[in-house]
Amino acid sequence: KKKITTKTILEMKAAGEKIAQMTAYDFTTAGILDRAGIDAILVGDSASNVMAGNADTLPITVDQMIYHARAVARACQHCLVVCDMPFGSYQVSREEGVRNAIRIMKETGVDAVKMEGGASIADTVRAIVQAGVPVVGHLGLTPQSIHKFGGYGLRAKEEAEARQLLADAHALDEAGVFAITLEKVPAKLAAQVTREVKAATIGIGAGPDTDGQVLVYADALGMTQGFKPKFLRHFADVCQCMTDGVQAYVQAVKGADFPNEEESY
Ligand code: KIV
Ligand code: NA
Repeated sequence: KKKITTKTILEMKAAGEKIAQMTAYDFTTAGILDRAGIDAILVGDSASNVMAGNADTLPITVDQMIYHARAVARACQHCLVVCDMPFGSYQVSREEGVRNAIRIMKETGVDAVKMEGGASIADTVRAIVQAGVPVVGHLGLTPQSIHKFGGYGLRAKEEAEARQLLADAHALDEAGVFAITLEKVPAKLAAQVTREVKAATIGIGAGPDTDGQVLVYADALGMTQGFKPKFLRHFADVCQCMTDGVQAYVQAVKGADFPNEEESY
């Protein structure tokens, strides 16, 4: 199968072929996703929650994102790999944003970076794109702004915020993003953005009419416990599968059944 590029993503939008993306943060998981036929992997700053156990995405650093992204990029033969720019790495100045985006590209081998925000970061997005780095935008529930929002609820349900989101999507489109992640917004608004922008839209909790979907792999595969928002579907029960395996191992060790003669030198 051919390597998926940013150009492929735009061709998929044009052809109406849905784009399937999941997160991954390590070599082993990314290899499974890539061989299973995923179109794109996001090395999300959700690694802060999923890998490190933090309450939000704010603490993760550029160095830590580079560690995860390098491991994922090494595993991927086919899919497009996008790396989140973490909180603080592009909000201070355009120069700092460009420098960090270039650093991520040089040190990881990913195909693109993702940044949260609209019109307010459009100049930085434009400069990063002009430097040769493909950018994915991210609007709606942008977790790096969780302290501003005060919660993880649905965004843009009121007319004013919906209008702002549409303007932000157009600002990102004009700045040259090839894709926009839309998180936890009404399906109707996500459909309108999808119709109006050149960029491919990738939804999470944004209804069925975006150009693609993205989920955190640990949520989608039923590994995270006690997290089941309405937008999430469990496509596997990996928690149960791993629990069964661990219990079988413990029993085999305690019963002196493992290792047996064939498993010994
Ligand atoms: O970090 C992440 O996992 C994300 C997706 C939820 C879009 O940004
Ligand atoms: Na993210």
